[in-house]
Amino acid sequence: MTAGQTSGEVLASAAAAAGAAPSIHNTQPWRWVAHPDRLELYAERSRQLSATDPEGRMLTISCGAALHHARIALAAQGWQATVSRLPDRADPDLLARISLGERNGISPEAARLHHAADIRVTDRRPVTRERVPPETLSRLTRVAEDEGVHLQPLREGQVDDLAVAVNQAAEVHAGDLAVQAELRRWTGGQRAEGTGVPDESIPEQPPRTNVAGRTFAHPGSLPIGGDNDRTATYAILHGDTDDPAGWLRAGEALSAIWLTATVFGVGLLPISEAVEMPASRQTLRRTLSFLGWPYLAMRLGIPDYGHAEPPHTPRLPADRTVQVAPAPAGQS
Ligand SMILES: Cc1cc2nc3c(=O)[nH]c(=O)nc-3n(C[C@H](O)[C@H](O)[C@H](O)COP(=O)(O)O)c2cc1C
Repeated sequence: MTAGQTSGEVLASAAAAAGAAPSIHNTQPWRWVAHPDRLELYAERSRQLSATDPEGRMLTISCGAALHHARIALAAQGWQATVSRLPDRADPDLLARISLGERNGISPEAARLHHAADIRVTDRRPVTRERVPPETLSRLTRVAEDEGVHLQPLREGQVDDLAVAVNQAAEVHAGDLAVQAELRRWTGGQRAEGTGVPDESIPEQPPRTNVAGRTFAHPGSLPIGGDNDRTATYAILHGDTDDPAGWLRAGEALSAIWLTATVFGVGLLPISEAVEMPASRQTLRRTLSFLGWPYLAMRLGIPDYGHAEPPHTPRLPADRTVQVAPAPAGQS
């Protein structure tokens, strides 16, 4: 963004930058409308995983991640922004509306997070033996709180509960033809351009991990070392409500945690399968002692920087996800 842009251009540019956000199976299930004075974020139902994610939990979390990316893109240029979430009861697909405020100094923190958005990737390889420093973990839990949700790192027995819940969900998904068809459509092999998880991001064989990674449509081509995840930290992102408002906040928190983790050299792998299934979601609720609704599990760890990282996944061109609304008559 440069000086001399209209506010509509500033907003459209933030929406385009939000395209780098992570999303379930890289579906990018969002649509932005940039008006001269506001930016609106809509759920794009044509890219919802209707079998895997019928209620739109993962879709809404993904859109929340894009919302946070847009907020950071504006903050990195010094713009203040006001966000109203789910502003129209009559239109539940309108997830958020962003209005521009004053332009102030650029905060170094926002600049760092904006840069992290360019380099962040999902790395499914086992993490190294180095542990995530406790002070970094505390920082990440504070970041979650700032976004209105909670990040609970799991103790050993709780990691076993998560592993059981993930296996339970994976078994049901393996036998569900519609879920398998979605996996084939969005992951590995040939897919529509600009979306989905390419073979190069999928491990060539199942990594040795405490909690099983997602089984994609077929093995990929990402080389993995022989390490296991004994030193990884597993955690659950959770909150007070199991509804779109909670899921949207969870997505914003996921993005904030992931970008902060990237700044600190920590990798994050989302683990959503156990939340997608009602029975395994209930198992996670028990793990949380019924103190909150689970939104997403994750693995945090130090990636293997000694070997090449997985490549960046493709994205849709901005003109497929960002629509620029014309200025009202009489304004230009
Ligand atoms: C809500 C959500 C759930 C996800 N769940 C999983 C998962 O269960 N397993 C996995 O390997 N990746 C998961 N991912 C990571 C996505 O596959 C990844 O973000 C997407 O392919 C884009 O790649 P990138 O993160 O490298 O940009 C999830 C991401 C989001 C936002």
